[in-house]
Amino acid sequence: MINAPTDKILAIGLMSGTSVDGIDAALVEIIDRHEKLETNLIAGYTYPYAADLRDEILAVCAGAMRSQKQICELDDRIAESFAQAAIAIMAKGDRLPDLIASHGQTVFHRPPSYHQENSKQDGKTSLGYTIQLGRGAVIAELTGIKTISDFRVADIEAFGQGAPLVSMLDVLLLSHPTKYRVCQNIGGISNLTYLPPDSLEHQEQVFGFDNGAGNVLIDMATQKLFGQPFDRDGAIARQGQADLNLIDKWLKQEFFVTAPPKSTGRELFSPEYLEKCLAECGSLSDRDILATLTEFTARAIAKSYRDFLPMFPDEVLVGGGGGHNGYLMERLQDLVKPAIVMRTNEFGIDSDSKEAIAFAMLGYLRLKERAGNLPSVTGAMRSVLLGRIFP
Ligand SMILES: Nc1ncnc2c1ncn2[C@@H]1O[C@H](COP(=O)(O)OP(=O)(O)O)[C@@H](O)[C@H]1O
Ligand SMILES: [Mg+2]
Repeated sequence: MINAPTDKILAIGLMSGTSVDGIDAALVEIIDRHEKLETNLIAGYTYPYAADLRDEILAVCAGAMRSQKQICELDDRIAESFAQAAIAIMAKGDRLPDLIASHGQTVFHRPPSYHQENSKQDGKTSLGYTIQLGRGAVIAELTGIKTISDFRVADIEAFGQGAPLVSMLDVLLLSHPTKYRVCQNIGGISNLTYLPPDSLEHQEQVFGFDNGAGNVLIDMATQKLFGQPFDRDGAIARQGQADLNLIDKWLKQEFFVTAPPKSTGRELFSPEYLEKCLAECGSLSDRDILATLTEFTARAIAKSYRDFLPMFPDEVLVGGGGGHNGYLMERLQDLVKPAIVMRTNEFGIDSDSKEAIAFAMLGYLRLKERAGNLPSVTGAMRSVLLGRIFP
């Protein structure tokens, strides 16, 4: 038998999540040995958004009214910022990349409300809609590199949640032959991929879902109460005392008791949501409030494993900025014992660049006309090609 030749391409992945902290850019080599994909991160960096651009994105995410003209101008600015991030990271390579895969910035995400086949037949399906700003056409034009964007649309249109899409990377790169693993991303929102042993062979058993606010409530509270962008290393929360009764009550809210597939965002975990939490915190000190929100975040994650996973994991592999919150990581480790919590760095995937690497990989799959979604993860009716190509 003649072995298919190994493909090796240089790709850029661009991502900005619900934290709206900045654009994660990854310059990554993708090596396709046909039975196995490998990635080799050459450079990874987060290019912060300009402060006024971030404020405008957050305002639109929170539902502020804007004219079409203003939305177009916002799209221009985001696209230009993504293109600049691509150009900056490109300079760290020794040749031009073959593709740019850009997630863009989600400003609105409404998954379909029914995604099971039977309810569709009942005619009860309401369509989903997802908007990522920062159009690929502009990025392709400004960089001169083939760009793929709008990764979530096709999955939503196949009645999936459009998320999580990173699960493809988890299956391809992080599954273990005998252990049950969870890949837990803690970005603005928390989401997981459940990886039974040898997931590549058992893709139908892989699933994933959003399991709560990641850093978003902690960040908003830190900004409001302490005037800092985030609780560095969880230092403030560590000094406080969590109100466990309040957390138990919050964990009974609809989102936390709903079975997957499910996805969420700033539409739920909004400034108004935080205000309600703060009102219920009553006379707690500011530190205790932050401890309570941090514990809430950790418990929502741990509870979702107990309630919704067929097997409790042996290992939890954390990616995303929440992995830098040492106190949140300690609380999570305590709550999911005997599972072991580690960052994905210990498995060769830089946890800060993981999502950007995942989109680079999804861009590669799109060019090869290989499906990028996992229907068991997103709830889509079928596997679909993800992303629009701008040559
Ligand atoms: N050193 C740190 N200590 C605590 N939290 C951190 C630290 N670094 C990053 N974070 C958190 O990670 C968030 C960014 O995470 P990220 O994975 O980029 O999320 P998203 O995908 O939503 O953009 C920040 O908003 C902050 O809450
Ligand atoms: Mg980010």
